[in-house]
Amino acid sequence: MIKAAVLVSGGGTNLQALIDAQKSGILKSASIALAVSNKPGVLALERAKNAGIKSAVINKKELGQAEFEKRLDRTLKENGIELIVLAGFLCILTKSFTDRWPKRIINVHPSLIPSFCGEGFYGLKVHEAVLARGVKVTGATVHYVNEIPDGGEIILQKAVTVPEGITPQKLQKRVMKLAEWKILPQAAELAAQAIEKNH
Ligand code: GRF
Repeated sequence: MIKAAVLVSGGGTNLQALIDAQKSGILKSASIALAVSNKPGVLALERAKNAGIKSAVINKKELGQAEFEKRLDRTLKENGIELIVLAGFLCILTKSFTDRWPKRIINVHPSLIPSFCGEGFYGLKVHEAVLARGVKVTGATVHYVNEIPDGGEIILQKAVTVPEGITPQKLQKRVMKLAEWKILPQAAELAAQAIEKNH
């Protein structure tokens, strides 16, 4: 059983999906040992507390990128973390950080990469672009994280149809419910198994 940390920035519904997956046995090769938020007072921290999961806030806005990554790295090492799951985490991690954690960081992106991803495609903006382009199918992707935003090896994807006339907000919820919350725990399990094999 390896230790995983979940990095969050907001609502934490993907963290909640991981917590529930641990309870239901879908996530069994990793235990969520730590939740880290880049900003204080977000609902994700409440979810961690309610689940009895240790949490930390490393305030990127106050610290700046370099100090943020330094403290993040130290906190992860101190807690014996081997798998980092970005779950609704809205910060960029630079090459100097991701190079230290090769095939150890996974991220859920709310589109079918390589569509609607990369620089500037995050949160609601993704779904607004999906609707503006008029695609009939979207979905979510879980991929390994490297220095290219949303550029790492794809682990799992799940497609979601785009109902006629749906709003960006409703599409975001639909993609989270039908895709993100399902494939993130499954991908975390696959990544944890791969890490255990390398032990
Ligand atoms: C999700 O669509 C996630 O993919 C994106 O932010 C949304 C909220 O995530 N990055 P969460 O509820 O904070 O997990």
